Amino acid sequence: MTVNMNMNAPEFDRIAREIFGPVYISIAGQIKAKTCITKGVCLDLGTGGGYLGIALARITDLDFYLLDSSREMVEIARCNIIDAGLTGRLHAIHGDVHDIPLAESSVELVISRGSIFFWKDKVKAFREIYRVLAPGGVAYIGGGLGAREVRQQVMEKMKQASRTLPGMNNKKNDHQAEYREALQKACIVDSSVTRSEVGLWIEIRKQNS
Ligand SMILES: C[S@@+](CC[C@H](N)C(=O)[O-])C[C@H]1O[C@@H](n2cnc3c(N)ncnc32)[C@H](O)[C@@H]1O
Repeated sequence: MTVNMNMNAPEFDRIAREIFGPVYISIAGQIKAKTCITKGVCLDLGTGGGYLGIALARITDLDFYLLDSSREMVEIARCNIIDAGLTGRLHAIHGDVHDIPLAESSVELVISRGSIFFWKDKVKAFREIYRVLAPGGVAYIGGGLGAREVRQQVMEKMKQASRTLPGMNNKKNDHQAEYREALQKACIVDSSVTRSEVGLWIEIRKQNS
């Protein structure tokens, strides 16, 4: 599958804001239930408008870095943090997943939705994620539209608006083998790649030393 970001930033943000709202709430709940991490620092990679981080901030005590390689998206995320009344707890930063501008072992939770498809070197990205994770930390990375009812609602709205997003209708290649191989090459042992009705998600755990 070839995926590209043909859509411009304001257009992507309009869809995220007007159609995807329930998706972020659903996935934030999924992340909290799966990882049980509610305190410390969370890094949202390829955050776009920052909506997943913002949804997770509302149900946890985590502080956030919302990172994106697009300066336009970082500006949009900055405005969204202010609109959400979360200034001070959430920080939008410009950066690349292949060279994360954070110190080693500085993050308790890494999250990412819908961005991995664009990462050019998954091995390098996984190594960077593992480097910034604190011992006992977890990364939850993947793509999906949340729980079944939410996904159905969103697909219906996208159909009505005659919209599709890159990769949205691709069922042939679900990338599981590619991600497992990249995790292995990155020497990350404690990890899983799971496809279920909530999408394809990778979990990485860094053991306490
Ligand atoms: C489809 S959008 C998803 C945005 C957001 N996570 C969401 O679910 O609404 C993918 C985002 O990943 C960002 N991105 C792509 N490659 C990246 C990289 N190498 N490092 C950081 N961000 C990246 C893009 O700029 C874009 O904002």
